[in-house]
Amino acid sequence: MKFRTPELNGRRRRLARALTIYDLRAIAQRRTPAAAFDYTDGAAEMELSLARARQAFEDVEFHPSILRDVSTVDTAATIFGGRSAMPFGIAPTGFTRLMHTEGETAGASAAGAAGIPFALSTLGTTSIEDVQAANPHGRNWFQLYVMRQREISYSLVERAAAAGFDTLMLTVDTPVAGARLRDKRNGFSIPPQLTLRTVLNAIPRPWWWWDFLTTPKLEFASLSSTGGTVGQLLDAAMDPTISYDDLATIRNMWPGTLVIKGVQAVDDAKKLVDAGVDGIVLSNHGGRQLDRAPVPFHLLPDVVREVGSHTDIAVDTGIMNGADIVACIALGAKFSLIGRAYLYGLMAGGRPGVDRAIEILSEQVVRTMKLLGVASLDELTPRHATQLQRLAPRRPDGDQNL
Ligand SMILES: Cc1cc2nc3c(=O)[nH]c(=O)nc-3n(C[C@H](O)[C@H](O)[C@H](O)COP(=O)(O)O)c2cc1C
Repeated sequence: MKFRTPELNGRRRRLARALTIYDLRAIAQRRTPAAAFDYTDGAAEMELSLARARQAFEDVEFHPSILRDVSTVDTAATIFGGRSAMPFGIAPTGFTRLMHTEGETAGASAAGAAGIPFALSTLGTTSIEDVQAANPHGRNWFQLYVMRQREISYSLVERAAAAGFDTLMLTVDTPVAGARLRDKRNGFSIPPQLTLRTVLNAIPRPWWWWDFLTTPKLEFASLSSTGGTVGQLLDAAMDPTISYDDLATIRNMWPGTLVIKGVQAVDDAKKLVDAGVDGIVLSNHGGRQLDRAPVPFHLLPDVVREVGSHTDIAVDTGIMNGADIVACIALGAKFSLIGRAYLYGLMAGGRPGVDRAIEILSEQVVRTMKLLGVASLDELTPRHATQLQRLAPRRPDGDQNL
């Protein structure tokens, strides 16, 4: 018998004890001011879209095959014209340095080290060029909001191309901002404003404040030269008039892979393929826009059947476990994106926290594949993952025979 050498580094000890993304979430909540945590953790209105998406994954029933050699499994995916070591990548998120000042730099460098793609948001808090510097050899993707002032968006597209980003992800589920009620109740603002409540909430979280006050100012890095207050920028970032004409313009401007994020209907997926996009992300923005939107995981079988042989389909919203990712691949997705799962890691411990989140999900992917008796992603089929019936989506035309 041997004594285990105690881990003296508190951060490493804390992260090693986290066995699930929910464990990282619990650490994140203890260490991050309520307004920043709630901005990340919360969703729109009654938060039903997010709860249902997570429930759908919990309601997956796996069907393993037995007596197959799974001593090694190949988790590599081909997605949007390139490779990823795992069937997931990091979703674009705004305000990321608010969660932890290492922000996108931690996300991009951790993604690079793990061989998975990193997506930078238009509302990111690290510039396009700095993300490229943090992940110089890996895949960087740029998420675009078509802003009211089109020239601002177009100049970002040019910068992303110049910096070698290989995929442009145009988000289309934000004609207006969703109602994030937690933010309203918290009086959330950028930069955080000092009220009596903020001060009381800060007392048990001195590290976050120290970090926040001693590192470079929090700003929308790619947009910093455009001026305007945060409110004006946000308003400018969402344009209710965007249409297929904008898509055509961007298609002509962007030399790389063009992906549309926020697709939520089979018909739209078909139209997008006809419009010449290279891929789609089935997503309801992590439940942060339209509440009671379709569960993206539920859309998979129909969308895969209609357009799966013409375009790459990725999916997000609600992924908290590598087994969720395996279920997505089994139902025909090529790839998945993780938003909060990564941000919980970031809040729990900066770059090592993101590494831990990726490690937890990767181990879960590998273990689930082995237990299912599949040695590569190609071997996963809809036979491996069915849904226990709880909330079955009804057909809009009234035909209930699914
Ligand atoms: C804090 C936060 C900020 C986000 N910001 C953006 C954004 O700027 N652009 C975008 O396209 N999606 C954004 N999203 C949505 C994510 O890209 C992704 O669709 C969503 O997080 C997936 O759900 P999940 O968090 O359950 O994994 C954001 C999500 C979160 C949680």
